[in-house]
Amino acid sequence: MTAIILIGFMGAGKTTIGEHLAAKSGLSLIDLDAQIVAKIKMPIQQYFDNYGEAAFREQETAVLAETIATGGIIATGGGIVVKEMNRALLKEQPQVVYLRADFDTLYNRIKQDPINVRPLATDKTAEEVRAVFAPRVPWYEEAAAVIVDTDQKSPAVIAEEILERLENA
Ligand code: S3P
Repeated sequence: MTAIILIGFMGAGKTTIGEHLAAKSGLSLIDLDAQIVAKIKMPIQQYFDNYGEAAFREQETAVLAETIATGGIIATGGGIVVKEMNRALLKEQPQVVYLRADFDTLYNRIKQDPINVRPLATDKTAEEVRAVFAPRVPWYEEAAAVIVDTDQKSPAVIAEEILERLENA
């Protein structure tokens, strides 16, 4: 089944844009973080505290591989590109969409998010978060079939643009 995979940093709007894409395309939305939380049976922050980031990345790889096989609109976590295995899985996929945004936009969204507690960003300074962001940028770009600039666009407009661009890709 078709998989449209959304990648991008924390705060890029992967889940929100995924909801719009699902509504427009009729495909179901699978949120990788939500799948992982269901599997590990605890919040992501607690899993990081107990087992560390490397263990979380292992969970992420397993869930990514399972989800690609299922298909649908897949909203990934911002760190999906950190592990080489995940980058290899993404590169095999024809419909990987990088939701690109300026660092300041992303950082402000992360800071204003009352729901998601993010071990690598919540309670961190802008410089600490930038140090997480910077090395990932080339990985997002390399993994993507389509790059969509999202600053100052609504989720609905972005979803429309993604479907158009994938159709013409
Ligand atoms: C992470 C991003 C989070 C979540 C975890 C790690 C990251 O997902 O997977 O906190 O390393 O960038 P979102 O991008 O949905 O916030």
